Amino acid sequence: MATASPPPRPSRPFDVVMWGATGFTGKIVAERMLLTYGAGRSLRWALGGRSREKLEKVRADLRAVDPAAGELPILLGDSRDRASLDALAASARVVASTVGPFAVHGRELVAACVDAATDYCDLTGEAHFVRDMIDAHHARAQATGARIVHACGYDSIPSDLGTLMVQGHMREKHGARCAEVKCFASLKGGFSGGTVASMLNMVEEASRDRGVRRVLANPYSLDPDRTERGPDARDQLGVRWDADAGRWTGPFVMAPFNARVVRRTNALLDYAYGRDFRYSEAMGFGAGPGGLLTAAAVTGAIAGAFAVATVAPLRRLLEKTLLPAPGEGPSKEERDAGFFASRFVGTARPEGGAAPVRVLGTVKGASDPGYGETAKMLSESAVCLALDGDAISRRGGVLTPAACMGMRLVERLRAAGMTFETSEAS
Ligand SMILES: NC(=O)c1ccc[n+]([C@@H]2O[C@H](COP(=O)([O-])OP(=O)(O)OC[C@H]3O[C@@H](n4cnc5c(N)ncnc54)[C@H](OP(=O)(O)O)[C@@H]3O)[C@@H](O)[C@H]2O)c1
Repeated sequence: MATASPPPRPSRPFDVVMWGATGFTGKIVAERMLLTYGAGRSLRWALGGRSREKLEKVRADLRAVDPAAGELPILLGDSRDRASLDALAASARVVASTVGPFAVHGRELVAACVDAATDYCDLTGEAHFVRDMIDAHHARAQATGARIVHACGYDSIPSDLGTLMVQGHMREKHGARCAEVKCFASLKGGFSGGTVASMLNMVEEASRDRGVRRVLANPYSLDPDRTERGPDARDQLGVRWDADAGRWTGPFVMAPFNARVVRRTNALLDYAYGRDFRYSEAMGFGAGPGGLLTAAAVTGAIAGAFAVATVAPLRRLLEKTLLPAPGEGPSKEERDAGFFASRFVGTARPEGGAAPVRVLGTVKGASDPGYGETAKMLSESAVCLALDGDAISRRGGVLTPAACMGMRLVERLRAAGMTFETSEAS
């Protein structure tokens, strides 16, 4: 990363603008912001979107949570109107965006934030979009001081901060670094219309653009230098027994994105995890025959869903019939019944042939990962960028949650009720 000190921060009317507050996820994030930070007392924040009428309805509904919500300012703009995005970016210290698919709606907003030296965080899991933002804006964001932090939701905060935490434990307790970290994910949760639209848009763009396919295939495609090579190869595709986890594993649908974010963090931290660092992610299942059967069933279902999604007419049929439409998603009861747990095994291999040292990590959330827990992750990322001053990196660029906010964000998420724990492997 650049070593020059960043330009001074301009003062702004708002600490945070919650951009996309009318969407399924945006409403949940806005409610969480209100419950945690009130309507302007400890944090100056505003609701942003493209429809005044819809935003007023969101604000009116939020009054049932806290009557002070009526005081929340409303900011208007449109992702296709650059001038409106420039005005939005100039009004805030941080823009937190849930307006996706990001490859469709996110490009001009990132450009506006970079130009205005405004910090930005979002929920994208679209690797080709992040690659394009790195190419277009990383150097200029370093110059303006704008911190552009993608992937501040379930994709990829548990993976990125979990790895940072396990590496920290290994360093503190053993004076070593993990040459390898494996992450095993388990979860119960649903999908919203915007998430489905983002995944299908990525499949569609990949089907017609070789450049997108290359980004999705290259394990190091989000590294600063996209020609970077390292020891990791392709993401897990089939069912495997993993001796480190002591359980059956299968492919995890978000692993390709999360793993590239973790590798970018390593590069942005000047290879603090090592140039030979290996990272992988899989779904973790049980240890017995039941675990094997579930792993096989889930793997088959994922492969089937991807096969269907790559056929354009079937994809459109799915979108129109079975899948949630934009604005729809899991009910409050379904969200409350959800959870996620990401378990990490970090391995250091001391020189001189001594036995490997292993440490364990867990990141857990007690509601639906994509919505209840993501609302915590995005809102705390935004507030961390706005208020945490020297406790986080002040350097601009197209960053990752761990490289920019590091353990300060872990502290915030612990305070928000998420679990971040490490221990020695027995
Ligand atoms: N990383 C994660 O864990 C995670 C979790 C949840 C969601 N997500 C991502 O978040 C994104 C949103 O998902 P969602 O289900 O909440 O979507 P959604 O309900 O469809 O909401 C989309 C939002 O974008 C707004 N929008 C659409 N076109 C716009 C335009 N031209 N200008 C300004 N705003 C515009 C919509 O405004 P209107 O209401 O006016 O239409 C709405 O506020 C998706 O990309 C999804 O993948 C990620």
